[in-house]
Amino acid sequence: MWYNKTKQARGARKEADEMKTLYEVMDGSGKDEERLKKAGGILKAGGLVAFPTETVYGLGGDALNPASSRKIYAAKGRPSDNPLIVHICRFSDLERIAWDPDHRAAAVAKAFWPGPLTMILKKKDVIPPETTGGLDTVAVRFPSHPVAQRLIDAAGGFVAAPSANTSGRPSPTSARYVAEDMDGKIDMILDGGDVGIGLESTIVDLTEKEPMILRPGYVTQEMLEEVLGSVSTDRTILDASSDVRPRAPGMKYRHYAPQGDLAIVEGEPDKVVRRINELCAEAAGQGKKTGVIATDETVRLYHADCVRSVGSRLDEAAIAHSLYRILREFDDEGTQVMYSEAFSDRGMGQAIMNRLLKAAGHHVIPV
Ligand code: TXA
Ligand code: MG
Repeated sequence: MWYNKTKQARGARKEADEMKTLYEVMDGSGKDEERLKKAGGILKAGGLVAFPTETVYGLGGDALNPASSRKIYAAKGRPSDNPLIVHICRFSDLERIAWDPDHRAAAVAKAFWPGPLTMILKKKDVIPPETTGGLDTVAVRFPSHPVAQRLIDAAGGFVAAPSANTSGRPSPTSARYVAEDMDGKIDMILDGGDVGIGLESTIVDLTEKEPMILRPGYVTQEMLEEVLGSVSTDRTILDASSDVRPRAPGMKYRHYAPQGDLAIVEGEPDKVVRRINELCAEAAGQGKKTGVIATDETVRLYHADCVRSVGSRLDEAAIAHSLYRILREFDDEGTQVMYSEAFSDRGMGQAIMNRLLKAAGHHVIPV
């Protein structure tokens, strides 16, 4: 089993403070209630539980407990100036932790919650600075995944949860990837199967007069504009040359990075295929293991050690769903040099290209 293999591989470098991570599969049976109760108890006692959401797996701790937030940073190896998202499971809990003076948050919640949308608002005092990286604002999300909702409820209503990956790795889209990164470091993993969306939630900042998207996701700018009127997008999102600091502290880190070198090749489709094949041949000549992120339309045209399709170029949802899994598969295969096709940046494509550009350290090769 993959899970045991992961454990064996880690065995050699077992750390002294490593804990036993409980692993519970949510199977839809009557036993799920017991599992959630146990998980909720762990969170209430200050422990950490990874759980599925509709976007990616989260690494949960009690958002009102400063010690839990400190543990989250330690388990992820995450810089403590990078704030966490507080997850809730009731509309009415929003006003317990954040201010909504102009009722914009209520309107956005009505339109997109429960769902893949996070709002930045001025925080109330119940949220400790440890949870918000010292900021006086708080990120709030009400996820739609039923396991997430039931767990948040069982934990008392406020669960701080970043994505459940080691800092710098792609966010986990299934429980096996959570185990790869977190086994031995957290109390429990709740396995609720593969996630639906595969990329993290859209983040919109409502603390300024004009709302601003700090991280693109499934909920697009157009969708938000229907509720809020004019919405802008943090220009650091797709622009590498910008020396402005991103407004979401987490967006400044080189995220989602595979272990090998990734570059995006952009241009007319047949030129892209030809150039990627040339580049792979060159790398192979230097004895390097090569990988290609292709689409259903082109997957048969490439020659590399590892060729993976993210789905049809026309199906943004499929691309979003498989991108992180493929980046992790390249790591598993030990791929050293990787090339990806570029994708449209319309709609959800903006979120896809944002994550891909970050994974590639903004290395784009035009043809
Ligand atoms: O889909 C998601 O949002 C997932 C699931 C688990 O809900 N969570 C997630 O959390 O992606 P994380 O911690 O990996 O990313 C949160 C991002 C970071 O870039 C962080 O800097 C930003 O949100 N953020 C959090 N609080 C903020 C705040 N008060 N102001 C600005 N940015 C904030
Ligand atoms: Mg993350």
